[in-house]
Amino acid sequence: MNPFVPLTLPNGTQLPNRLAKAAMEENLADAEHAPSDELIRLYRTWAAGGVGLLITGNVMVDRRAMTGPGGVVIESARHRERFERWAQAAQADGGRIFMQLNHPGRQMPAALGQPTIAPSAVPLDLGNFSKQFAAPREMSEADIVDVKRRFVEAAVLAQSFGFDGVQIHAAHGYLFSQFLSPIANRRTDRWGGPVENRARLLLEVVAAVRAAVKPGFAVSVKLNSADFQRGGFSPEDAKAVVGMLNPLGVDLLELSGGSYEAPAMHGQTRDGRTLAREAYFLEFARDIGAVARMPVMVTGGVRRLAVAQQVLDSGVAMVGIATALALDPALPHAWRAGSASAPALRPVTLKNKVLASLAYMAMVKHQLRKLSRGQLPNPGVAPVYALLQQQIDTTVRNRRYRRWMRQVTSH
Ligand SMILES: Cc1cc2nc3c(=O)[nH]c(=O)nc-3n(C[C@H](O)[C@H](O)[C@H](O)COP(=O)(O)O)c2cc1C
Repeated sequence: MNPFVPLTLPNGTQLPNRLAKAAMEENLADAEHAPSDELIRLYRTWAAGGVGLLITGNVMVDRRAMTGPGGVVIESARHRERFERWAQAAQADGGRIFMQLNHPGRQMPAALGQPTIAPSAVPLDLGNFSKQFAAPREMSEADIVDVKRRFVEAAVLAQSFGFDGVQIHAAHGYLFSQFLSPIANRRTDRWGGPVENRARLLLEVVAAVRAAVKPGFAVSVKLNSADFQRGGFSPEDAKAVVGMLNPLGVDLLELSGGSYEAPAMHGQTRDGRTLAREAYFLEFARDIGAVARMPVMVTGGVRRLAVAQQVLDSGVAMVGIATALALDPALPHAWRAGSASAPALRPVTLKNKVLASLAYMAMVKHQLRKLSRGQLPNPGVAPVYALLQQQIDTTVRNRRYRRWMRQVTSH
């Protein structure tokens, strides 16, 4: 199917085509963790490239709980003007923008110096890298209520800033994904155990967000089709969760997979199971698509028009693209004009899976930084160079974040 056919979501939101820029954490917030001029320029560039839907990199609902330094935080209307400019930059060429909302749970770098909370006191297992993440404390009922309130307030704020929708991040091992995982969630109360309990927080948040926003404001969910860990969130669990999401008014369900412990979202799994080299999650999407009553979007590995078409031919409504759009923000226009462009990064050959995943992320973030400064991307960037550059950027931003936290808590 031609990706340049418009799509109308269940709530009436019209998307000009079937290609979406999937969420990519940019680490480009300003000193007060609001959208910076660089971040806004990056979205203007993507919008000009013809993508139909832009999903922001994850925005934090709690300044104390960050996936990394330099993340945008949404807690109040204090930086309204910056958020409005961000939305408008993305919408300037007819595309739509959803804000991805996230809470990292235990996947919060220890260097940020904040207490870490998670469904259970189960630390991340990243081998030699485990110390980069603090051991979490088990969330209380009050913590759970607070998280729910924050997601709802953030969605209402995003709506008031002119965004077209929100995406609730329930994939990749972050907080909701931790609740869904029998490995990370060992609770014996109504938030743990059977999949109905593990999914309860996500379902309650989705229902509360849908009830709080206008019908024309879209609500999307990003869910793992599987965690790719033995004993983890399984494809059967995913199907059950989609069944429970069906009646809640979700407008778009994005399917991905993996976590920091098993970074399948970049085509690698910890247990060595091989994934198809392109459109990694398509097989799962076919299965889950049979249950889903809302439009489904599949993300992971798409960089060729023929593959995007194949994804749509299988009955999937939208194709999510991250890496390839960081390498060529004008890819949709190029494809539409008949180009066979298939942007690719230099392959990462590092043996250690965690390090390889970090290098991959660093190489993509290198492109985001370049685009945000109005420069051309550099697909040939060396993994070690990108890692080093990312390390320096992270150290500087960590320091800035800690300083900011000291200031905001002191008045
Ligand atoms: C640098 C980078 C940052 C990412 N940040 C996010 C994020 O904030 N939220 C999210 O849901 N996925 C994030 N992802 C995952 C992508 O959305 C996508 O699922 C994954 O990269 C696979 O798609 P691709 O093969 O087209 O890159 C990120 C990926 C990269 C490379």
